[in-house]
Amino acid sequence: MKKVIIAFIGISIFLVSCTSDKEQPLSVGCSSTIYFATDVKPIIDAACVGCHFAGAAAGGDFAVYSEIKGKVDNGSFKNRVFVLKDMPSAGSTPLTEGELGKLNCWLEQGAPNN
Ligand code: HEC
Repeated sequence: MKKVIIAFIGISIFLVSCTSDKEQPLSVGCSSTIYFATDVKPIIDAACVGCHFAGAAAGGDFAVYSEIKGKVDNGSFKNRVFVLKDMPSAGSTPLTEGELGKLNCWLEQGAPNN
């Protein structure tokens, strides 16, 4: 039993240290569920769809969940928004910390179509 408890504490510390190493400071706690329809879609519609629409050079129609999810699954969404930080691209209004926090939590929660 002791071993189980120690393992559990170890895993917890590991998970906590992983999440706190993320590049972006979180302004909303990931303890609350982030919903695609009400939290994420309005951000993407306002900040991304102006360039990422069907047939555009930007690649991906971000008005469509499955096209966003494709970029999440191949890692490019996280890479461009959180690592390179070049999306939304230069000249666009940058995302606020609150918006970035929501997107980050949504990614951490598996980017569901909820
Ligand atoms: C001002 C126009 C513009 C805006 C706004 C914009 N993008 Fe982009 N985006 C582009 C262009 C053009 C490309 C293709 C060239 C490149 O990869 O840099 C691109 C490429 C990307 C890619 C790589 C696509 C691929 O197929 O690998 C991702 C991911 C991405 N954008 C995410 C986003 C997200 C998320 C937002 C909103 C937060 C956003 N972009 C806002 C213009 C834009």
